[in-house]
Amino acid sequence: MELKVQSGDITTWKGDGIVVNLFEGAMSPDGAAGAVDKKLRGLLTRMIKQGEIKGKLGSTTIVHTFDKLPAERVCVVGLGKQTEFTLDRARHAAANGVCALRNAGAKKIASVVHGAGLDHLTLESVAQANAEGILLGLWQFRKYFTSNEEVKTVDQVVLLDRDPAKLKALKEGATRGEIIANATNLARDLTNEPSNVVTPTYLANVAREIAKKYDLDFDVIDRDKAKKLGMGAFLGVAQGSDEPPCIIILRYWGSGKKGAPGLGLVGKAITFDSGGISLKPADGMQDMKGDMAGGAAVLAAMQAIAQLKPAINVTGIVPATENLPSGKAFKPGDILRAMNGKTIEIVSTDAEGRLILADALVYATQTLKLSPVVDAATLTGAMVIALGHHRTGVFCNDKELGELLFKIGEETGEKNWLMPMDPEYAEQIKSDWADIKNSGGRPAGSIIGAMFIKNFVGETKWAHLDIAGSVGGLLGTGKEDGYKNKFGNGTPTRTFVHLALALAAKK
Ligand code: BES
Ligand code: MN
Ligand code: ZN
Repeated sequence: MELKVQSGDITTWKGDGIVVNLFEGAMSPDGAAGAVDKKLRGLLTRMIKQGEIKGKLGSTTIVHTFDKLPAERVCVVGLGKQTEFTLDRARHAAANGVCALRNAGAKKIASVVHGAGLDHLTLESVAQANAEGILLGLWQFRKYFTSNEEVKTVDQVVLLDRDPAKLKALKEGATRGEIIANATNLARDLTNEPSNVVTPTYLANVAREIAKKYDLDFDVIDRDKAKKLGMGAFLGVAQGSDEPPCIIILRYWGSGKKGAPGLGLVGKAITFDSGGISLKPADGMQDMKGDMAGGAAVLAAMQAIAQLKPAINVTGIVPATENLPSGKAFKPGDILRAMNGKTIEIVSTDAEGRLILADALVYATQTLKLSPVVDAATLTGAMVIALGHHRTGVFCNDKELGELLFKIGEETGEKNWLMPMDPEYAEQIKSDWADIKNSGGRPAGSIIGAMFIKNFVGETKWAHLDIAGSVGGLLGTGKEDGYKNKFGNGTPTRTFVHLALALAAKK
């Protein structure tokens, strides 16, 4: 799919479909929609009067043009109330328009830039949101269908604006949006690929390719090196699997000081979580191919960061392994020793994500001295119960970092919610046999997961994003919503990228 930005008149554009918009409550179309309406001899105005087009957010209406315009179809996208318009609504509207036309069979589409006429938003940010919405909305994962009948694809989308003076800003914003959306779509592809394809070695190869293409440092810690480093928690999880585990490291140097620590991004990559000896129920277990979504987001974000080049050093760390039962697997009652020396009683081998994060976080905070460090993980089913699919739970030991992540969530649409971590919760993971145990039962399951991980970050500024619900349909219940698909949706790739940009801008 090709995305272009051009200046020109949408009423003379030739192709399969054009997208214009309408705010809720507007009684007559204006701007590009008005110009199209004129060519259609007032058809849109009439449909508005009849109440068939209302401008409601998320609505789309397609009419054919019967040669009154060179484009075959017009799609009118509802933007909701003008006073409530946000960048995320631009993202949604952009996705809704091109997806409706795609579903009608259009291959070549032109769209206005939703929100480009509003004063309170910059042209760059609006163009970025539109580009993101289009590319995220058109993403699909159909590669394993051998029949073409169900697969409709778009070849080209042109973002059009009449005013040539806007072109430069629109192009800059759209390029940024394209980089970020392509990265998010990479995370989606990796998350939705099955575990017989996406193994730890496969992820390492993807990371190696990203490093080569975008000039990042690449390193990998294999089983032997992990042993030497004393990563007993990571290795405990990995010991039941025949697939070689690894910890993938990508480093971007943007601060001007190569080798200086900088921001750390850590992502859980369990390429399949069977639960291990504490085997999961069969129902829905297939969704655990997506238990590497956090790791996928880290690799994807590193790709976008390498392209956007913010003035900050960023290191991505992805502990990757399967969690399987076997004659070699770790067992409930086992005691593991993490890289920082802390001992862990295993209560459930299904609480494995926190174990691989433990060693990765010790490596990030103590060995590499990164700060702040933000991890993302499909860590707990309890997170889905607490916040459903619409917000990521954020656990954070630093107020400023937590507030920044919240703000980024409102802008990107990868919405966050700050969760509590009162010290009392630590009671639940006290062990009779070791320093801590890896599960504290059902109450406050997500908070307990965060309290566990906290043992491995020392005093470093740190945030933990539990994306078990927000990443999409890992439980098969994700919700399709404009540019957000119901499957693994790439969260929190865009959050990571925006965090790097925001921290770089602060310095
Ligand atoms: N990967 C799962 C969490 C998960 C569940 C993610 C559903 C996405 C959807 C994680 O490894 C896990 O099994 N967590 C356990 C923890 C418990 C044993 C303390 C859980 O949530 O049940
Ligand atoms: Mn598990
Ligand atoms: Zn898991």
